[in-house]
Amino acid sequence: MRICKTPDETRDALKNESAIAFVPTMGNLHAGHVSLVAQARSRGGTTVASIFVNPLQFGPNEDFDSYPRTFGADCEKLENAGVDFLFAPTEREFYPEPQTYRVELPGIQNQLEGRFRPGHFSGVATVVLKLFHIVRPQVAFFGKKDYQQLMVLRNMVRQLALPIEIVGGETVRDGDGLALSSRNAFLTPAGRAEAPRLYRALGRAREAVLRGDADFSAIERDAALDLDTNGWKTDYVAVRRQSDLQTPLPGDRDLVVLAASRLGTPRLIDNLEMTREG
Ligand code: PAF
Repeated sequence: MRICKTPDETRDALKNESAIAFVPTMGNLHAGHVSLVAQARSRGGTTVASIFVNPLQFGPNEDFDSYPRTFGADCEKLENAGVDFLFAPTEREFYPEPQTYRVELPGIQNQLEGRFRPGHFSGVATVVLKLFHIVRPQVAFFGKKDYQQLMVLRNMVRQLALPIEIVGGETVRDGDGLALSSRNAFLTPAGRAEAPRLYRALGRAREAVLRGDADFSAIERDAALDLDTNGWKTDYVAVRRQSDLQTPLPGDRDLVVLAASRLGTPRLIDNLEMTREG
């Protein structure tokens, strides 16, 4: 695996590669990332990953400083997974001047995650667009755990006519259902034992919708209550349609239930997709 530090070095290293499959990450890699790399490799072209903890997508009171940075272990995992090139710039190399030009997003950026993380999705879209310009992939892979991020990026690529296929990788879970996440490292042992409740609450919400219950507000309230009476502080539980994360209309079949909740300091997010009978 060749490690490139600067945008120029990366462009130069990739200039003769025509079929690039790209996995952007912020490092602290787990089995979810490795499964995205495996999907990228299965395309048969050149596999490129990036590691960059992007300050633009963190709010002033968020965990940018404490975000786990494990570069040596990450390189080993990427190398073992068969990545050909890694783009790993420093902040100065990636943002040599203040990034004042940013991607402007529609109203969804202020809903769900965006309501609790103002500016987050604009920061994500800006870094990903810039990464796309440097790496110039044909296909890029993002985990479904960050469902709203995946939706925002998919729609950005379509509306801006970028010639890039966006693929959503299934969430990888521990045996008890907890979705793998870099932020799980912040859970206490008691928190780790409690954490799968989020997955179970989402599972019950999904069952209710699939049974034909259309009172989404009540379903969302029940799930939030289950969490909050067990020590969580829930930001939202929401049943939305998959395509644009708006409130489902009666005919919408492809839905997703999403949640974010705090268990002590760590804030966990998760979601489950579902397809209603027509
Ligand atoms: O999902 C992530 O790890 C990040 O949001 C991404 C897509 C690499 C952009 O910084």
